[in-house]
This record gives sequence, C-alpha cells and structure tokens, in this order.
Amino acid sequence: MRETRWSPMTRRTFIGGLSVLPVFWARATAGDAPPPISAADRVLNVMDFEPLARAALPPAHFGYIATGADDDRTVMRNHEAFSQYEIRAHRFNDLSHLSTSLSLYGTSWPSPIYLSAVSSMRAFHADGELGVARAAAKRSMQLMLSTGSSIAIEEVEAARSAPVWLQLYPTNDWEVTTGIVRRAENAGCTAIVLTVDSPGARNNETLKRAIQADSRRCLDCHQGNTHDMWRRAPMFAGLDVSRVTGLAPPGVTIAFLDRLRELVKGRLILKGIVTGEDAAIAVQHGVNGIVVSNHGGRNEETLRATIDCLPEVIAAVRGRVPVLLDGGIRRGTDVFKALALGATAVGIGRPQAWGLAAFGQPGVEAVIDILNRELAAIMRQAGTPTLASITRELVVRSHGG
Ligand SMILES: Cc1cc2nc3c(=O)[nH]c(=O)nc-3n(C[C@H](O)[C@H](O)[C@H](O)COP(=O)(O)O)c2cc1C
Repeated sequence: MRETRWSPMTRRTFIGGLSVLPVFWARATAGDAPPPISAADRVLNVMDFEPLARAALPPAHFGYIATGADDDRTVMRNHEAFSQYEIRAHRFNDLSHLSTSLSLYGTSWPSPIYLSAVSSMRAFHADGELGVARAAAKRSMQLMLSTGSSIAIEEVEAARSAPVWLQLYPTNDWEVTTGIVRRAENAGCTAIVLTVDSPGARNNETLKRAIQADSRRCLDCHQGNTHDMWRRAPMFAGLDVSRVTGLAPPGVTIAFLDRLRELVKGRLILKGIVTGEDAAIAVQHGVNGIVVSNHGGRNEETLRATIDCLPEVIAAVRGRVPVLLDGGIRRGTDVFKALALGATAVGIGRPQAWGLAAFGQPGVEAVIDILNRELAAIMRQAGTPTLASITRELVVRSHGG
C-alpha cells in the first residue's frame, strides 16, 4: 500500500513520498489506484491517462513528466485558466459540413493540434519517439521533435514519413548549434523551433522529490552517463561537446537571434514567448512563427497562464506570422478557446507522454483522437463548422471580466 496524504500547507498530495499536483489530486486519491482500463481506446478523457502513466512508470520518470518549477503553480494555472473563458454558443448555423482542418505553412492538416517537443521519451515507453512518430503518421499530425529525443532524428523522420520540426536547444557553443541545425535540415526538417525560455535556472522540486522517492540508481539505467542532455542525446552524436556547459547561450540575445536567422535556411519559429513586446521584436527579426509557451510551467513560477498571455501576443504580431500556443490543453474546449483568442494551432506536451507511458503508440493515438473528437463536438455545439468560424466574439471572460 502506498501512503497517501494531503498537506493543507502546500496544497499538495503526497503519494508514496511523491508529491502530486493538486490539479490531479482528486484523480490520484480516488482509491489511489488507476482506473481498471486495459486498452487505450477505453480511456474517457485525456486527464484519465495521467494516473495510468503514473502507475506504469518508476517515480523518477513520472516525476520528470509531472514536474513544474517551485510549487508547480504555473502548471496548474495553465490548465485552470481555460475555465475562466466561457463560450458563447450560436444556434442558427448550418452544420451539415463540419471540418476541423487547418492550413499551416502551406500544408493541410486534419486538426489544429500538434505534438510539442518532449525529450527522452524512451524513459516513458520502449516505443519512445518512434511510437509518437508513428501515431503522428497515422493521424497526420505535425510533430515537433525535441533536441533531447532519445532516438535519432533520421529514424524519427522515417517513422513519421513526413517532415518533422526540430525543437532546438542551441547550447552555448555555436559550432554545436550549426551542427544540429545542419543535421536537422539534411534530415528533412521544415522548421527549426528555437526554445527561448530555458536559460538554465529552473527549480524542478517535484522531480527532485520523485528522484528521492525512487530507490533505483539512475545511472544504472542511464548506462553510466550523466543527465546532461548534450552527453547522451543522439542529436549531439558526432559533435564536439567539450565546450558545452548548458542548453542555451548565456542569453538568447537579438544578436544571437539574427545569427541563427542567417543560419537556418527554412522556417525559424520561436517557442517560449509570453509577452507582446518580445513577440514584436521576434517578428521584426524575421521569425516565421511564435509559440506562446511557458514550457508547460516547467521553467519558472510566474503564474501567467499561456492562454492569458495569448491576447497581447496576438495584438503585437498583427497577423504577420502564425501564433501557436501550448500549456494546459486537456480538452477540446481548451483548443476551441485558444483558437477563438487568436491561436492558429495548439500543442500538447504531457498528454502525449501520459498516453505513451500507459499504452505506447496506441496511447498517443487515443490522446489525439479524444482531443480531436472533443474539438469537433464543441465546434458543433457552438455553431462553428470551420476553424475560421471560431472567432474572438465566441469567448468571454467569466464573471464579466
Ligand atoms: C517531459 C517533458 C519534456 C519536455 N521537453 C521539452 C524539450 O525538450 N524542449 C522544449 O522546448 N519543450 C519541452 N517540453 C515542453 C513542451 O514542449 C510543452 O511546451 C509543454 O509540455 C506544454 O504544456 P503541457 O504539458 O501542459 O501540454 C517538455 C515537456 C514535458 C512534459
């Protein structure tokens, strides 16, 4: 029996010594057992994958998925903030042809949802990034591959059988940056997504607690390697990482951005923008897209939900490039609200990791199916037959705010 206790001081639940986010508290403590579900397509909603993933994983690996920064409140906030927006459903529209399809960068997609970068996915299931790529192929989803992928980009591209985007951790060494970008381009990547929210000061206490609760010695399974991504991730294979001390330069300055813009032959997208000012600068300096993201609340405890950051970014970008959003997307209604507030597409992080951990590739497919089904349902209910018809006036802040 695992011990479960609730701490009113910290608003956390501790299960077997592992702190669980309050947002998952009700589910985690309901008998402290995952629902008796043996097939991915029987899971009712995206959140129900979370306890299944927790049951399937060692504490440290589940802690890696769950963790936020400090008290994890930005993680919660990302999710909870969606409930402050309410949908004004319309009744008299013709819904005989409902389509969730999206055109983005000249490619047509069946859905405005994409799979955001999640590193080290073989820590969650043997299928790893190949399982995610195959699920993305079956469902025609855009995949953003992490620099920290546990499988080589060429293999992932082959499994996806269509171009992926590479999320870039440039490191502090320009030679390494160049090596990663060129390899991604040679592999067929159609966009480089620079993560700008990771200067390297994050405090992931939930992960640290999970590691303390895990009796296994990490280095036994990590083949004696350290946890430094640049010493183990295949994306760094063949590169001289002897001068690398971090995943980012000491500041992603405008000068760095300009230099990267010169280097990248195709599209350059920035991930991790949360203010209108930064979005305007990025567009002036030639980026092709912005991802409003706070790294799923993993990097800093600012408590600003991405959905609350979106309107000022939309206002600053003025339609010049697509604005994407990730963070806390767990329901089709969340997708709908983000689109209504101006996002072109939305990314999911933890849900794909939960689906993968619980069931491998079929779990990722089920997560995608649930979100797509829920999006189509709310579009029908709200009287919006196309993504273009999901407009700003369909969403209001609750309590007249
Ligand atoms: C386990 C895990 C690993 C992640 N790895 C990366 C990464 O390597 N690079 C990156 O830019 N973002 C990374 N992210 C952040 C996601 O791309 C995304 O911004 C975030 O998870 C979205 O929030 P959500 O988890 O609430 O959907 C990671 C997220 C998780 C949960």
